[in-house]
Amino acid sequence: MSTVDLEVSIGRLTLKNPVMVASGTFGYGSEYAGFVDVNAIGAVVTKGISIYPTDGNSAPRIVETPSGMLNAIGLQNPGFEVFEREKMPFLRKLRSKTIVNFFGSTVEEYAELAGRLDTVEGVDALEVNISCPNIKRGGLAFGADPQTAASVTRAVLRRTDKPVIVKLSPNVTDIVEIARAVADTGVDGITLINTLRGMAIDYRSGRALLGNVIGGLSGPAIRPVAVRAVYEVAQALDVSIIGCGGIVEWPDAVEFLRAGACALQVGSATFRKPSAAMEVLQGLEVFLKKAGHAMVGDLVSTVKVHGGGHP
Ligand SMILES: Cc1cc2nc3c(=O)[nH]c(=O)nc-3n(C[C@H](O)[C@H](O)[C@H](O)COP(=O)(O)O)c2cc1C
Repeated sequence: MSTVDLEVSIGRLTLKNPVMVASGTFGYGSEYAGFVDVNAIGAVVTKGISIYPTDGNSAPRIVETPSGMLNAIGLQNPGFEVFEREKMPFLRKLRSKTIVNFFGSTVEEYAELAGRLDTVEGVDALEVNISCPNIKRGGLAFGADPQTAASVTRAVLRRTDKPVIVKLSPNVTDIVEIARAVADTGVDGITLINTLRGMAIDYRSGRALLGNVIGGLSGPAIRPVAVRAVYEVAQALDVSIIGCGGIVEWPDAVEFLRAGACALQVGSATFRKPSAAMEVLQGLEVFLKKAGHAMVGDLVSTVKVHGGGHP
């Protein structure tokens, strides 16, 4: 079998391979170090951090659903200082890149935290979360409007020289419009997608199953929505796209590459199988080799559509 070059570039960020773990599903990396080879993957994307510690939402915070799960964690995290002191030492030693996912409740908070992260050695890139569906302030409040999404992104770019990726929400009417506004700021890449807003009720008691009532749906159930979002944005814009949403096995990753993503994040699948991302990477490499592709880029945007392309 031929060799294959797995390296990918997302704007100024280069990864040794295209597979990452998605924010909030792999802690800060160290939690999984005893179970899997964290160094194998292209990057660890951390749980989202804020300037100050955040407790998150009241329990229950997770519910299993058909082909997926609902979560309403509410962006619980220990805050920047504890993150830097206690989580960075492990991440700094990794051979995988470290992408820090973060959020704020005002544009100024996003900018302030970007400035602080800019000074932290070992942080290779920032992923801006403007797409969390289950916190009252912040998150989706910034990601549902093109102008607001662009102004948060510009504020972050002004405060850091590190590569910046913006993570978008599928809970919008036209994701291309939001992606265009963000891409026009000169950002390095866009992650598509965060969770879909959802809700579940216990039919006997009538109780909402999540403490926060509404949460974010993830897992295989959302994959077609994510693939569609990647496809639409890739057709319309010239920006690096990281595909995320329902990737469980390596063929799912190939689907995202064909839709137009140049890199991938494995999320909830890790809860079932901690080695999910590593196995996706292995399977993808074998597939590329067997198919005679020299590099990952050979597969990007290779979807073939019947006739007109739209139903
Ligand atoms: C428990 C949980 C926590 C999450 N926390 C974050 C977070 O802190 N920041 C963020 O941008 N996305 C967060 N996400 C969204 C995931 O990174 C990912 O976008 C989403 O789950 C879709 O991918 P999947 O279907 O592979 O899980 C979280 C998802 C889950 C399930």
